[in-house]
Amino acid sequence: MPATLHLNATRAEDIERAAEILRSGGLVAFPTETVYGLGANALSAESVAKIFAAKQRPSWDPLIVHLPRREEIERIVTVDNDLQDRVGLLTHAFWPGPLTLLLPRRPVVADAVTAGRPTVGVRVPSHPVAQALLNAAGVPVAAPSANRFGHVSPTTAQHVLDDLDGRIDAVLDGGATPVGVESTVLDPAPRPMLVYRAGGVTLEQIEAVTGVGVELFVPAVEWDCAPESLPSPGVGIRHYAPEARVMLTEPDEAALWREAASHAHAGRVGVLLPRDWEMQSLEGAVVVRWGTWTEPESLARELFSGLRALEGQGVTTIMCPLPSPGGLRDAVRDRLLKAARVA
Ligand code: TXA
Ligand code: MG
Repeated sequence: MPATLHLNATRAEDIERAAEILRSGGLVAFPTETVYGLGANALSAESVAKIFAAKQRPSWDPLIVHLPRREEIERIVTVDNDLQDRVGLLTHAFWPGPLTLLLPRRPVVADAVTAGRPTVGVRVPSHPVAQALLNAAGVPVAAPSANRFGHVSPTTAQHVLDDLDGRIDAVLDGGATPVGVESTVLDPAPRPMLVYRAGGVTLEQIEAVTGVGVELFVPAVEWDCAPESLPSPGVGIRHYAPEARVMLTEPDEAALWREAASHAHAGRVGVLLPRDWEMQSLEGAVVVRWGTWTEPESLARELFSGLRALEGQGVTTIMCPLPSPGGLRDAVRDRLLKAARVA
């Protein structure tokens, strides 16, 4: 494959070029409000196969399909009568935006997209560049995060190129993504509803809008089962992981610095330090400022760029405080816990 084209989302002709690549079966990375996605025509098995090859993603891990408008979802899914109301409430409240719904697929969706499952994840992203591209492409676009499989998700076009340069046709550069963590993956059918991945829309928001309970799915035998046997494979994978070992500490300044100091002898330690926490001098440590501890939106927005920045400085261990549960902190916790898994 020739070098990856670097397209500029502020130019109308570049958006059109990206759309044309998608229509003709190629791969385009593009910004959404959450992270950069790696898009291909979801109706073409051949195009979708290229996503799995470029990312080195196992074929059992299904993809989310992106559409420009909620009115279009019936192109790719069916919504049973008894779910119409609930899905209507969810899509009106959260679309366009960072919520993925698992719904029964229609046969037009390429089998590879769902990894043979009866449901497909569908979402309508709110990022203006994603909107423009999806409208111009005119086809549903399957898009996982645009990173090498298992690596930290990309929040800038440079992150995408760092992982996939030369492996994809183009990246459409629209600057840094505003939410910074991926969409919430929700199965709206059961009661309580099940969240397979905490993300940009919180459990509390989903509950408030629908009046239906919602729970975070936890695999029964934690982490020990094969991911492909889980209802949502992403639940069971070491993921979002930089090359360095990630170690999580109690959520307070003293604990973070104590742990960092106790590992300083064993290699080059990196510290992800909330902006409102105090700097301490620790010989040989590399400190990257994170978001503000009391503003979960900023922790989400700056998490992946912080991990990548530390990785880029060649640290062997990354020390990071683990936020307590609740709201958007659930998504940050999930990514950190998966990044810190050893296997
Ligand atoms: O914010 C996002 O969702 C980004 C942007 C690009 O839209 N996309 C994204 O895709 O994060 P990906 O492939 O990196 O993560 C999708 C997650 C995986 O954990 C996958 O296992 C789960 O959603 N998933 C997708 N389709 C599914 C399905 N039909 N059933 C169960 N889980 C599914
Ligand atoms: Mg991903």
